[in-house]
Amino acid sequence: MAQILHGMPVQTEILSRLTPGLAVVLVGHDPASEIYVRSKIKACAELGIFSEQLSPPESSTTAELLAIIGELNHRSDIDGILVQMPLPKHVDARAVLEAVAPGKDADGFHPVNVGYLVAGRPAPRSCTPAGVIALLKYYDIAIEGRQAVVLGRSDIVGKPMALMLLHENATVTICHSRTVNLPDVCRRADILVAAIGRPAFVTADFIASGATVIDVGINRLPAADGKSRLVGDVAFKEVAEVAGAITPVPGGVGQMTVACLLVNTLRAACAIHKLPAPGV
Ligand SMILES: NC(=O)c1ccc[n+]([C@@H]2O[C@H](COP(=O)([O-])OP(=O)(O)OC[C@H]3O[C@@H](n4cnc5c(N)ncnc54)[C@H](OP(=O)(O)O)[C@@H]3O)[C@@H](O)[C@H]2O)c1
Repeated sequence: MAQILHGMPVQTEILSRLTPGLAVVLVGHDPASEIYVRSKIKACAELGIFSEQLSPPESSTTAELLAIIGELNHRSDIDGILVQMPLPKHVDARAVLEAVAPGKDADGFHPVNVGYLVAGRPAPRSCTPAGVIALLKYYDIAIEGRQAVVLGRSDIVGKPMALMLLHENATVTICHSRTVNLPDVCRRADILVAAIGRPAFVTADFIASGATVIDVGINRLPAADGKSRLVGDVAFKEVAEVAGAITPVPGGVGQMTVACLLVNTLRAACAIHKLPAPGV
């Protein structure tokens, strides 16, 4: 009896090579994380990127999460893996992030990829700062030769932001909670990036006239109607009167983070399938 050459498995195989896949691991039920994950999954659907949400319980152990990541690393339909932060306090977040295969690191947090960023070599890049650079370029805001001040030095925003601005040839200053005369330092900025997680902390006296102000902060405050509202790290109204350009919260950097997550996923898929990377 002749072998039957069914087309369907071949079609499935070819289509899976053409369709990038993102796995999002959301541990527990943090309400803000649930909102972020929903917007990421929705963006994948809009773009035709396959996505899968894994929702292990809050009580998951580090070992259980490592096992989930290990499986995702080996799945051929998954090109990008994102572990939504923060993880529950009892989990070793560093171990979980480091377990993600560097080539599937959709968030750009793996130390190998951070090393590539330091060296200025192509690799998945931390989505929020990469999004800030894309936004500045979209609006033709010059970076080269400008004074950039980054307020915040976290591993996921402040540090990679400073490096990316440096690679764009800005002169970069990094500020943090021990910086002395913070408003004076910030007033030197042509481009000020605020990423500290303090609602409306950056007031007009931090801003040089005409400066570009990028507000990365997402702070949830109780609203009058019993719900909550989002505010950034920048006192938008008063700063908008001094700045030359400013990002709103919501509706600014958050959108960029999602876009860059999908860029990282698409690039990872191209690298895995040995296809040329898209020029985005
Ligand atoms: N838009 C997005 O998509 C997106 C993505 C990620 C994060 N975020 C938001 O961005 C903000 C920062 O996030 P993160 O993860 O980087 O926060 P983080 O890990 O808490 O780091 C905060 C940084 O701000 C510094 N800082 C805190 N208070 C300060 C003060 N009073 N003066 C000067 N520096 C101060 C801290 O300094 P020390 O190092 O000295 O403690 C630290 O470096 C949060 O609101 C977060 O929700 C938004």
